Amino acid sequence: MVTATIDMRASDWVTRKWDQPEGIIGAHIAESDFGTSPAIGRALHRAVDAGFLTYLPERLAAQAESACAGFQDRRYGWSVDPASVRLVPDVMTGITLAIAILTPEDSSVVVPTPAYPYFLTAPAQVGRRVVTAPMNRAADGRWSLGLEAIRVALADGARTIVLCNPHNPLGQIHSDAELDALLLLAEEFDALIVSDEIHAPISFGPRHVPFAHRSAAAAKRTVTVTAASKGWNVPGLKSAQVILSGEAHASTWTRLDPVPRQSGSILGAIAAVEAYRHSDDWLDGLLVRLRRHRDHLADRLPRVIDGARMRTPDATYLAWIDVRRMTGALDSAVGWRDAGVAVLDGRQCGPGGEGHVRFNFATSLEMIDTALNRIAERRALGPAHY
Ligand SMILES: Cc1ncc(COP(=O)(O)O)c(C=O)c1O
Repeated sequence: MVTATIDMRASDWVTRKWDQPEGIIGAHIAESDFGTSPAIGRALHRAVDAGFLTYLPERLAAQAESACAGFQDRRYGWSVDPASVRLVPDVMTGITLAIAILTPEDSSVVVPTPAYPYFLTAPAQVGRRVVTAPMNRAADGRWSLGLEAIRVALADGARTIVLCNPHNPLGQIHSDAELDALLLLAEEFDALIVSDEIHAPISFGPRHVPFAHRSAAAAKRTVTVTAASKGWNVPGLKSAQVILSGEAHASTWTRLDPVPRQSGSILGAIAAVEAYRHSDDWLDGLLVRLRRHRDHLADRLPRVIDGARMRTPDATYLAWIDVRRMTGALDSAVGWRDAGVAVLDGRQCGPGGEGHVRFNFATSLEMIDTALNRIAERRALGPAHY
């Protein structure tokens, strides 16, 4: 049973999403307003009451790694050796470490765009240049990987491809044909694929397939980075997992042990164990609820806001809204914010992101409607009021 929507502004604390000036609806960042699962809540209460606020012990790190492997097997049919899973404090740390230690120092990183904004900036932290590879948009709003642009980047010296599987901000599950072609390119240029699967638990269909589980060849050259943070809404607990299915990658990664494995939080590891082992029912309930909210939004958006369009997402609680046909300032996040709704500006997602905003629907139906109505009302006032 999924908990009721929580008013995240009603206590002394506020979540990042609701850390807004009075009256602005926070729909920009990927946090949910539904709290977390009771199993995780109980475990965290127990841990706090008993003073388990220490450094992360080895035994618990191993439990979280094994729980992550078990979840991959149960949920996606991917048999993962627990010894190939390593804890890291968060997904972006896992991604940047993978790039830093598993690819040549002078190589660049290909990022298909529109992209999760940090993909565009994080590689610079480990001295790597990003080359964007714009995706192609079809008339039905579906996007496909820009394979030719990826090839050009690889031919020019890139040795990492950052894949977002499922995709944020598009909310898409890439087609088999695209992913097969991507693997062939990676093989041709001996590139590493870093598959960010943080959003995988929130897949509505088609079923999520971990990229490394597609074939032995994919497993060999993929580093998967995932976490319980989106599925169970615990990103602040700082625990993520890297799955090193390539043997060579696993042995290189051991050079880093015990750091960063032990630098995540003890509460995060406790939450990961509970999420991956004891919270499937809660996740299933969340998916039922999010599907309803997604369908409500997809139905209401084009009817309430003239000119706004979206493709119904296959995954994530994020809607990628095409606002190019909206006139005045409502064709970007700036105008939406002025109208009282904070959304992610597509321009932050790199080439192809212009003319789009990303809206988080992991909130109550009422809040979704209020947000849509605010934009519609501002639009009705006409361009002079934008
Ligand atoms: C695709 C993707 N990767 C990574 C992150 C950040 O994860 P973390 O906070 O674990 O670094 C997010 C957060 O929204 C995300 O959407």
